Amino acid sequence: MTPSLFKPFAVGTLRLANRIVIAPMCQYSAVDGCTTDWHTIHYGHLALSGAALLTIEATAVLPEGRITYADVGLWSDETEEALGRTIESLRRWSDMPIAIQLAHAGRKASTDLPWQGGAQIAPDHPHGWQTVAPGADPFQDGDHAPVALDDEGLDRVRSGFADAARRAARLGIDAVQIHAAHGYLLHQFLSPLSNRRGDDYGGSAENRMRFPLEVFDAVRSAFPADRPVTVRVSGTDWVDGGWDVARTVALAQALQARGCDAIHVSSGGLDPRQQIPVGPSYQVPLARAVKQATTMPVVAVGLITGYDQADAIIGTGDADLIALARTILFDPRWPWHAAAHLGARVSAPNQYLRSQPRQYRALFDLDESGES
Ligand SMILES: Cc1cc2nc3c(=O)[nH]c(=O)nc-3n(C[C@H](O)[C@H](O)[C@H](O)COP(=O)(O)O)c2cc1C
Repeated sequence: MTPSLFKPFAVGTLRLANRIVIAPMCQYSAVDGCTTDWHTIHYGHLALSGAALLTIEATAVLPEGRITYADVGLWSDETEEALGRTIESLRRWSDMPIAIQLAHAGRKASTDLPWQGGAQIAPDHPHGWQTVAPGADPFQDGDHAPVALDDEGLDRVRSGFADAARRAARLGIDAVQIHAAHGYLLHQFLSPLSNRRGDDYGGSAENRMRFPLEVFDAVRSAFPADRPVTVRVSGTDWVDGGWDVARTVALAQALQARGCDAIHVSSGGLDPRQQIPVGPSYQVPLARAVKQATTMPVVAVGLITGYDQADAIIGTGDADLIALARTILFDPRWPWHAAAHLGARVSAPNQYLRSQPRQYRALFDLDESGES
């Protein structure tokens, strides 16, 4: 019997070979928003991992929406061409479906690379720019204050997301994930801790959800109807009085009603006061709460490292898919090793078929030319 983790699944019309998703992971290795050889190498080896879906990192829909100056973007013909070259290489050697996370960092934009400390860079410094947000409150004390988005600014962000979705569609990308988690712009609208607007986009929970839902609608109408649009959320801010799981469930239901194809439940990132109970599967209860209240596919993520652990998350029905970030960076063949451990089959490139250890004789799915 096929273990739960390796049962095929569908998100909308997108067929997935198993339940393992590669989570979006910023590489901070782009130049002016353009992907580089690093991305071909990095995504290239993840695309050979046997996972069901590769998600391209947070990709800024506008230059000021980048977390750092080295983030990938999709706001111009140049950035589209560069990403097109990366995708073409991946497609040549892997048939893994490809999703892209479209993002705007809001007040958490304009920071240095993580391995250079990750501090905010002020607008008048090289590599820095003026950030925007729902209001003028900075992420943390001492940061340069963001400018509150006015009607024109909101339009620019909505169209930025829609244009990027159109570019992603042109590149043949299979699915879009809208980044509404981790304290970035759309999450800043959702949380009462970062949204203190007095207009239709602030105040009540309904008003705070308005802009993220408008962005969802804009992306949904810009991306081909037969390809999935999904959303990544933070299930809680882990701060008293902040965004919480009950609100996440309400948002998930509103998204489902608008045609969202799947929801990916992460957490935190909005407020430096967060107290996160980090441990194995620590975000799975958030995914489970959303799963119980909706019928759309739910992705769980966060310290999922064990093969049996991952299989049980799917088997118990807590989530439909699991996403891996650090786990798959550490072990890019994790899906092969999970398949070997659980007694499942996984796809591997022909060039690597001879790596199959004798004791796992039936591990790899062979294609027509596989025995050569
Ligand atoms: C190097 C790195 C880059 C990340 N970049 C992103 C990103 O672009 N978008 C996002 O939503 N989350 C990002 N994350 C968070 C991961 O997608 C994931 O939610 C988190 O690391 C927890 O999963 P894990 O325990 O498997 O690492 C990043 C994580 C890492 C380690």
